[in-house]
Amino acid sequence: TIVLLLWAVLGYLCGSVPFGLIITRAMGLVDPRTIGSGNIGATNVLRTGSKAAGAATLILDAVKGAVAVVAARLAAGEDAAQVAALLAFIGHCYPVWLRFRGGKGVATFLGVLLGLVWPVGLLTCATWIAAVVMTRVSSVGALTAAAVSTIWMFLIAQFDTVLVGIVMTLLLYWRHRQNLARLRAGTEPKIGQKP
Ligand code: G3P
Repeated sequence: TIVLLLWAVLGYLCGSVPFGLIITRAMGLVDPRTIGSGNIGATNVLRTGSKAAGAATLILDAVKGAVAVVAARLAAGEDAAQVAALLAFIGHCYPVWLRFRGGKGVATFLGVLLGLVWPVGLLTCATWIAAVVMTRVSSVGALTAAAVSTIWMFLIAQFDTVLVGIVMTLLLYWRHRQNLARLRAGTEPKIGQKP
């Protein structure tokens, strides 16, 4: 229906706000697209040398996902929330403003899950933190958390929400294909190291 279409567009627009670029520009830091992995996400913003910028990127890229979902739910119900979730995630990965060259979706994935099914979101955040702390490799933490989130989804969420989670997880893996290649080659850097 027209309402779902509207929330698809609003979700996409919300997700496509590139906080990594906005924050680094506002703080006078180097453009993250010119360093490290070239990604606009929190991990690569951290490589500018600013922990504050990295943390702010992580939080705001997550918040925009949660906000899109909760706003859609309050205005138009659960179907709209699911549509907004998926499109906010896609908006982060493929923002029209950056000629569709966006991020890898990790923070936005976490935020969207918190908005959609908060127990799944919390468990996925805990999984992500544990995997990052244990491996010190951001991509491994994210890929582990995304895979394990499917288990939390099946245990807790309803079937159509599980499907949204699986689509996002597959897209997150696709967005990490360079990381996966580096992991296979043994060249993926630990957090804080330059790749
Ligand atoms: O999964 C975290 C991802 O964002 C890794 O970023 O910059 O190491 O490719 P990067």
